[in-house]
Amino acid sequence: MTSPQEKHFEALERAEASIAEARERVAQDRWRLRYHVAAPAYWINDPNGFSFYRGEYHLFYQHHPYSPEWGPMYWGHVKSRDLAHWEHLPIALAPTEDYERDGCFSGSAIEKDGKLWLMYTGNVWTGENRDHDLKQVQALACSEDGILFEKLANNPVIAAAPEGDVHPFHFRDPKVWEHGNAYYCVLGSQTTDRRSGQVLLYRSSNLTDWSFVNIMAGGQEPTETLGYMWECPDVFALNGHDVLVCSPQGMKPVGDLYHNLHQSGYMLGKLDYDTGRFEHGELQLLDYGFDFYAPQTTEDDQGRRIMIAWMTMWEDKMPEQVRGWAGAMTIPRVLTLENGRILSRPVPELVNLRGEGVSYEQIRIADASPENAYAESEEYAMPSASSVIRGGQEFAGVNGDCLELEVEFDAGSAASFGLSLRVGETSGEETLLTYDREQQKLILDRERSGAGSGGIRKAPLALREDRLRLRIFIDRSSVEIFAQDGELAMSARIYPGVDSTGIRFFAEGGESVLTALHCWPLDR
Ligand code: FRU
Repeated sequence: MTSPQEKHFEALERAEASIAEARERVAQDRWRLRYHVAAPAYWINDPNGFSFYRGEYHLFYQHHPYSPEWGPMYWGHVKSRDLAHWEHLPIALAPTEDYERDGCFSGSAIEKDGKLWLMYTGNVWTGENRDHDLKQVQALACSEDGILFEKLANNPVIAAAPEGDVHPFHFRDPKVWEHGNAYYCVLGSQTTDRRSGQVLLYRSSNLTDWSFVNIMAGGQEPTETLGYMWECPDVFALNGHDVLVCSPQGMKPVGDLYHNLHQSGYMLGKLDYDTGRFEHGELQLLDYGFDFYAPQTTEDDQGRRIMIAWMTMWEDKMPEQVRGWAGAMTIPRVLTLENGRILSRPVPELVNLRGEGVSYEQIRIADASPENAYAESEEYAMPSASSVIRGGQEFAGVNGDCLELEVEFDAGSAASFGLSLRVGETSGEETLLTYDREQQKLILDRERSGAGSGGIRKAPLALREDRLRLRIFIDRSSVEIFAQDGELAMSARIYPGVDSTGIRFFAEGGESVLTALHCWPLDR
């Protein structure tokens, strides 16, 4: 008879063979991201098990190794020394046991006794209706080398949801951490009536025996505006505060906010580890773009809190699916807490991806009427500091499909100003990033970005002494924008044509100054 471990290895080998057969074809795709994590082929969603183990960053992800659609979940695996270059490792988990028959769902990792432990949700469908007919339990797998994982013989370690106003089946995504002399884990959950999301707190002395402490947040609080289910919770301390990150499903739009199908945000507060209650402030978004979900964080050896999220959105168009893959991770971001808010900045190590850059400074960007906005861009290839630019302005060396831009605008007299990204001369494609001074909003418009969903996202943002600073990371089918040194992040997938590589700067209703512009090609 084959042992559970042999059965697991066989399932992993089959999955690897499926990926191997598809990976060459997928690598050819023009939308394939060059410096973001994605599976070598087929589907990924949430980041899982993000951890710093034996001097390297390990990142696992929800993975379906048999098609570019979501299916029974496996855990894919990559590692990195610098958070910029990632190496693919063998798939870590396959759903082979009865308690996880239909998927090894999301979870986290922790080091204990020199070993790397994964805690995850075993999912089983018990009928046709995937909202109601399911059973979720929590399980552990352990590795001596961070590559080969063995599931615990006495899984599941949490076999049922606790008593009380807790839905018995929607009970998933354990995030585990150590505090004092104990291990804690949070789980995503909802109330029995399925109207409010909530987070459950558990405690353990040894990682294997868990006791329920309390509903940590959500639930009976008046949180109906915060959705019906909180997925992928994460808890950590930052600068003297406790932080709860979670991904609420089903929040309704309020003004310009919460227009994504699902949201991801954080609450600051104080976790009482004895009572298990979390006194907290309001939910604030971690990213204002279109494609950011299920973020997970880890702490590294420098004491930094680093976050990665799934840069894709449930139930959205994923044009890459026809090319044999779907989904990607955001670039890693360092979180800091400043003036009562979490700031997120790209990890500094991403400079390791930079090729030779170009720089410009003190360029006046004048108002342009729509007719001549893009008319004569070629002539403006090398503007001098004194030249007044009419129309959308291009700069030599500032174009491509894989690059980083560092930009500072002085708003000057303009009513709005910004950049067009991934501009296509003949296709008319462009992704617009505009700062509107009256609204005090940064606006990301992908109505004409190419294939995939369109839409507009508006994020509140103040200028500082009339200045706007941006860092923009473009990859072949994505754009990530960081404004005012980490105050605001917007992440989006876009699917332009291969020729849409232009970048133009514009001002409307007056004149702005591009005080600084740096551009680097990026590649791994
Ligand atoms: C979040 C999520 C998790 C679940 C996983 C399944 O995106 O729905 O709650 O564990 O995806 O793939």
